[in-house]
Amino acid sequence: MIGMVARWIDQARHAVALTGAGVSTESGIPDFRSDAGLWKDVDPMDVASTAGFEEDPRRFYRFWIPKLAAIRDAQPSAAHRFLARLESRGRMQAVVTQNVDGLHQKAGSRRVLEMHGSFRRLECQVCGHSMDLQASIDLREDAKPPICPSCGSLRMKPSVVLFGDMLGPVLAEAEQEIRDADLLLCLGSSLAVFPVAGLVPLARRSGAKVVILNRETTGMDDEADAVLRGELSDLVQELAAPLGL
Ligand code: APR
Ligand code: ZN
Repeated sequence: MIGMVARWIDQARHAVALTGAGVSTESGIPDFRSDAGLWKDVDPMDVASTAGFEEDPRRFYRFWIPKLAAIRDAQPSAAHRFLARLESRGRMQAVVTQNVDGLHQKAGSRRVLEMHGSFRRLECQVCGHSMDLQASIDLREDAKPPICPSCGSLRMKPSVVLFGDMLGPVLAEAEQEIRDADLLLCLGSSLAVFPVAGLVPLARRSGAKVVILNRETTGMDDEADAVLRGELSDLVQELAAPLGL
């Protein structure tokens, strides 16, 4: 199976990767739905929805500030580096990611479509004031939520897509990438959250081969031409060999 997938990657005209939190767990950032996932001991509607943010920005930042420190210090995983190497060899045209940690770019990937935004910016929901997040929040454990320097409000929302938000133009851009693709590699995602999960059947309908690399079953395994079950660091290492990466 590995040899067949390596050949598909080697022969692809337009390969695209679709990634989720599973590519960053080996960078020390927990995913959401695994046994040790973030949603195990908190309700995502409290800390990852616009309604939850508006209701209680302090609760929102109490949850996210320790994770933001982990994101700031995290290094790319073997999976991030594998995809960056494929792109530099012309074997990968784009990475469509649900992650907000910026690790694909840190690994060297240049064409990265961030479907759920990123934690780079803060934007005041009252007056629109925007500023760099890392420069504006003290990430020590006891940090307080950011206060808008121009209007004093607590509603400084990070530039991530929360449950209840629309995805914006990046979705149409990702759909076009998928329509142009003849190979879609899905890495480290449960493929459970739409509209991003809908990119997998779209790839099938567009005639692309679909490969899912993941530790557990996903919502889209039935749509896949191949499923590689296991740890991503092992799987990308096995794929790198026949590809001479
Ligand atoms: N190797 C292989 N698979 C892994 C590894 C690993 N090292 N670590 C985690 N996984 C797998 C898990 O088994 C799980 O199936 O990665 C998948 C991660 O799935 P989720 O935790 O659901 O993350 P994701 O698919 O990115 O979630 C999508 O949901 O909460 C929202 O906005 C959030 O972008 C996120 C979206
Ligand atoms: Zn403001």
